[in-house]
Amino acid sequence: MENAVAIRDIFSGAADGKKVLVRGWLQNKRSSGGIIFLLVRDGPGVIQCTIRKGVEQGFFDQFLSAKIESTVTLEGVVKPDPRAPGGREIQASSGKIDYPALEEFPIAKQAHGPEFLLDQRHLYVRDEKMRAILKIRAAILSAVRLWFDSHGYLEVQVPILTSAAVEGGSTLFEVKYFDEKAYLTQSWQLYAEALIASVGPIYTVAPSFRAEKSRTRRHLTEYWHIEAEAPWCDLDCIIKVEELMLSHVLEQLVKNCPVELGLFERNVEDLARVKPPFPRITYDEALEKIGPEKAGIKWGDDLGYEQEKLLTVHFDRPFFVTGYPKKTKAFYHKPDPARPDVTLSVDMLAPEGYGEITGGGQRIEEYDALVTRMREEGLDPKSYEWYLDLRKYGSVPHSGFGMGLERLVSWVCRLDHIRDAIAFPRLINRVYP
Ligand code: 4AD
Ligand code: MG
Repeated sequence: MENAVAIRDIFSGAADGKKVLVRGWLQNKRSSGGIIFLLVRDGPGVIQCTIRKGVEQGFFDQFLSAKIESTVTLEGVVKPDPRAPGGREIQASSGKIDYPALEEFPIAKQAHGPEFLLDQRHLYVRDEKMRAILKIRAAILSAVRLWFDSHGYLEVQVPILTSAAVEGGSTLFEVKYFDEKAYLTQSWQLYAEALIASVGPIYTVAPSFRAEKSRTRRHLTEYWHIEAEAPWCDLDCIIKVEELMLSHVLEQLVKNCPVELGLFERNVEDLARVKPPFPRITYDEALEKIGPEKAGIKWGDDLGYEQEKLLTVHFDRPFFVTGYPKKTKAFYHKPDPARPDVTLSVDMLAPEGYGEITGGGQRIEEYDALVTRMREEGLDPKSYEWYLDLRKYGSVPHSGFGMGLERLVSWVCRLDHIRDAIAFPRLINRVYP
């Protein structure tokens, strides 16, 4: 195969006046007055290529009738031109269509309905905004890894197939596991609590699954979960980890993805001002802020999307809500010794109506207290035997959290719906394509 240059590199100016060969997908095409304007995308980069009358006729005609999203090879001289996107174009003198599109590309310039675009997701991932989302996700994950790796956290992996619920049975996906039942994991947490006694502070990036029965703008059934767990870490300690990690991630994002962020209605200033310490309020204060009628809930109920939305208008950056009542949280949350009806739990909420992006807190470290909480929740301690063992052999105060990658991306890019924060969303009514 001939050696092509990377389109992105052409914009440095180093190839100005030189002949280059590029290959890619024909993203767009128009012609006027004997010139064909082509946009060619090789993945990382897109460049305008022009073919002018006077070149070999067969070459001109072939591209005049070329269909969008054919793959092409073009050779020509790089010319700076302020009218071209990015300020440079290739004046092509030869080339060929490598794999002509067999049919008209189904996604046209005009607006399509969301269900149509979801059906065509395998093609829609070529869209400019989808490509930006993929780059932003990758930039977030590399910043996450950079932060944890340089703060003494080891990246580890745990099973996706599990034998018990972490976050309550109502959102468990059951799978047939030979002659047994197994579940798709909701969170790495129980395994993480075992591994901190092996290697200390840890993190993971992995899929989590929730059989969410409701259709909402912020629930996927399969999402990517950034989770961390640390020994000798209390509630205050894990809150600091969350705010330091997230502010680092946003700083890297502003630095590395300005062009991608520019495609969304996001002012990078909104991200740049996110610095520790983040505002903190308690659950009780949250109810006061939400208002007298509390949007349909009373003390002791969990904050749902409606309540969180009302709360977020009071903040212009992510903030923490601590001290959720015991019955709103899973069995492992440590009751506050000063006030046992609330837990040492914390959610981070994003502003602008987005709401919860992380959940976590301090865990119960005492054997008896954990068994009591399991029984209160109607769980059989027998199903959690290995997990209980961890409290028998050198227990330790410890905390952790989980952050939904797509929840973060939704807020960062101000998306209307979480389905656009991932290439191939899994939703209550969709496992295709
Ligand atoms: O609040 P959750 O349920 O907490 C846990 O799973 C803890 N065990 C995590 C831990 O402490 N290690 O989920 C954590 C985060 C939420 O804050 C949210 O960002 C995301 O996971 N999340 C979802 N994202 C997309 N779709 C869903 N259905 C989600 N459910 C939770
Ligand atoms: Mg939660």
